Amino acid sequence: MRTLFAVHPVSLVLVFTVTATGGNYTDINLPQVHIKYYFNSFPTIAEKCRNDAACPYKDNLDTEACWGYEEGCKVENSFSIPICPGDHKGWVATKKAQLETYYAQGDFGYVRDQRKEMMLLCEPLFVDDSSLECSEHMRFCRARNVMLNFTDLLNRKEPIRYKMDVLKEGQIGGYCTLNERRLQENADHMSPLQSWGPELRNFRKLHRRPIVHGDCDVVIEKPTFIMKIDAILNMYHHFCDFFNLYASLHVNLSHPSVFDTDTHIMIWESYNYGSAFQDTFEAFTSNPLWDLKTFRGKTVCFKNLVFPLLPRMIFGLFYNTPLIYGCEKSGLFKAFSDHVLHRLRIPLHQRKDRKIRVTLLSRDTQYRKILNENELLKALKENPEYKVRKVTYNKNVPFKKQLEITRNSDIFIGIHGAGLTHLMFLPDWAAVFEIYNCEDPNCYKDLARLRGVGYFTWEDTSKLVQQDSGTHPDGGAHAKFTNYSFDVKEFLRIVSLARNHVKHHNAFNKFINNDFHKMTLSEIQNDTKTTDNKESVQPSNTKESIQLQQKSNILSKDEL
Ligand SMILES: *[C@@H]1O[C@H](CO)[C@@H](O)[C@H](O)[C@H]1NC(C)=O
Ligand SMILES: *[C@@H]1O[C@H](CO)[C@@H](O)[C@H](O)[C@H]1NC(C)=O
Ligand SMILES: *[C@@H]1O[C@H](CO)[C@@H](O)[C@H](O)[C@H]1NC(C)=O
Ligand SMILES: *[C@@H]1O[C@H](CO)[C@@H](O)[C@H](O)[C@H]1NC(C)=O
Ligand SMILES: *[C@@H]1O[C@H](CO)[C@@H](O)[C@H](O)[C@H]1NC(C)=O
Repeated sequence: MRTLFAVHPVSLVLVFTVTATGGNYTDINLPQVHIKYYFNSFPTIAEKCRNDAACPYKDNLDTEACWGYEEGCKVENSFSIPICPGDHKGWVATKKAQLETYYAQGDFGYVRDQRKEMMLLCEPLFVDDSSLECSEHMRFCRARNVMLNFTDLLNRKEPIRYKMDVLKEGQIGGYCTLNERRLQENADHMSPLQSWGPELRNFRKLHRRPIVHGDCDVVIEKPTFIMKIDAILNMYHHFCDFFNLYASLHVNLSHPSVFDTDTHIMIWESYNYGSAFQDTFEAFTSNPLWDLKTFRGKTVCFKNLVFPLLPRMIFGLFYNTPLIYGCEKSGLFKAFSDHVLHRLRIPLHQRKDRKIRVTLLSRDTQYRKILNENELLKALKENPEYKVRKVTYNKNVPFKKQLEITRNSDIFIGIHGAGLTHLMFLPDWAAVFEIYNCEDPNCYKDLARLRGVGYFTWEDTSKLVQQDSGTHPDGGAHAKFTNYSFDVKEFLRIVSLARNHVKHHNAFNKFINNDFHKMTLSEIQNDTKTTDNKESVQPSNTKESIQLQQKSNILSKDEL
C-alpha cells in the first residue's frame, strides 16, 4: 500500500512519531512576500531563523505583518487592504461598511469569520480522544482520531460523484462527547457541494477509542484533506475547488506545518481523477491523490482530518460570492495566485523592452469564436507599443506553460469563457479585456475585481455582429452559443484603455524599470528568470501562435 499507513495501528503509534516537518524554516516553501506573515504566525520558527546565521529570510524578521484574520491584526499591517472607489449601490450605509462587507465576502475577512465560528461538535476529554469541530452550517470542519467505515462501498456498483449517501449513520464516528443537537442543527445546508452536512450528520459516538483499540484496518497519520470537487473540465469551476482548499489552509492555520505538502488529499468520488488542471494539486500535496476506491472495504482511522470549504457554498467564495459593488483587490485572491505560481515554479520573465505584452486567447470550440480574430490581431500588431501573441489554451499546451504565458501578459483578451479564469494569474498591473460578456456581465468582472486587475469589456453592441441568436443545447436562444465579430476601431479603442491602465500602474513601472531593490536575491533567482531568448523563440505573429490540432477538453463544456 502507498506511503504512510499501517495495518497494525497499535504498533504504528509506537514506531512513528508525527514528524512536524514545519518546525524548520529550511522547509518553508512559500513566496518570498509571504514569509513575514508566516513568521508572525509562528514566532518559534522566526526565532530559529534569527538564531541561525545561514537563515535566508532575515529580512522578514521584526515586522508586524499579519494576514488579516489574526486577532489583533491592525489594518495597516495586513496583507492587503481592499479599495472601494465605486458606489455600493445601496447595499450598505457607509464607506466603512462597504469595505468591511467586501472584506468579509471575498477577502481574508471570510477566513476570519470561519475561524470565529468554529465550535466543538464532539468534545474530547483526553489527548487520545477524538474530536470534531466545524464552522456554522458545516462549511469547514476538522477532526482528530476519527474512524470512517468504507466497508459498504464494496457493495456500491454505481460510480460515486455528487452523492450525499456515501456514509450512512455510524459510518463516521469518534470517541468524544457528541453534541447531537448542535450536529443536526448545523447540518442544514443539504446539498453535495454546499456543506459537510451530508457526511457529518452521520457522525456517532463510538464506545471506545478506535485507534488505541486497533479498530481500524488502516491508520492515517498525516494530515488528510477530503475534497468534494466541483468540476474537472472547466477551469472556472475547478479553481473554485483549489481556491477553497487554499483558503481552508488559512482557516485551519495553527501549526507551522500548515503549508506543507506531505499531506494526503482524498477526492470524494470513485471516478479516477484526471484533469487538464491537475498540476495545481502540486501546490498542495506531494503525495498521490486518493479517492473513494483507495480504501473501499476498509475501516480507516484519520489522526488529522480536514473538511475544507466547498466550491458551491451558499454565500461561498468565488462561485456564489454575492460581491458588494464598488470594491476590488482581495488579498486572499492575491495570496492564492502567489502561492500557486510559486509552488508550480512559474517564472516571471524580466523584460528588455517596454512593450506591452498583449495575449489574445482564442477558443477552439463550436461557439463563441471571434470570427475576425486575424483582422483584430493584425490591427494590434500594427501598433509598435504592443507585443502581441495569440494562444489557444487546450491540451496541446501544458497547463504550466499556459500559466507562464498568462503570468507574463500585461493585457489578456478573450471572449466570455472559463479560460478567462487565467486572469487570477496575471501580474498585479495587468488588465483583462473580456471582449464580449455574452450577456453574463458579472462572472469575470467580479473575478477581476477580486484579483485586483483592470477589467474592460465591449460597451457598444451596435459595433459587434452576432452570427445568429445562438442555440442552447437544451433549446432556446442563448448569446453564449454563437460566434461574434467585432469592429476593429472600437476594439483598438478599448485595448488602448487597457494599455493606459497598465502604463499608469506603479507596479508595472517598477517592474519595467528593473527596480529590484525591494526583492531579495533568492526571490530574483527563484521567481524572475531572464528569458529574452525564450521570448524571441516565439515572435508575435500568427504562425507562432500555439496551434490547436485537437479539440480542447478544457473549454468544451463551459457555459461560463
Ligand atoms: C532543519 O533541517 C535541515 C535539513 O532538513 C537540518 O540540517 C537542520 O539541522 C534542521 N534545523 C533545525 C533547527 O531543526
Ligand atoms: C464497518 O461496517 C461494517 C458493515 O457495515 C460492519 O460490519 C463493521 O463492524 C464496521 N466496522 C467497525 C469497526 O465498526
Ligand atoms: C488543523 O487545526 C487543528 C487544530 O488547531 C490542528 O491540530 C491540525 O493539525 C490542523 N491540521 C492541519 C492539516 O493543519
Ligand atoms: C461558430 O464557428 C465555428 C467555427 O468556425 C463553427 O464550427 C460553428 O458552426 C459556428 N457556430 C455557429 C452558431 O454558427
Ligand atoms: C529557490 O529555489 C531552490 C530550488 O530551485 C530552493 O532550494 C530554494 O529553497 C528556493 N528559495 C526560496 C527563497 O524560495
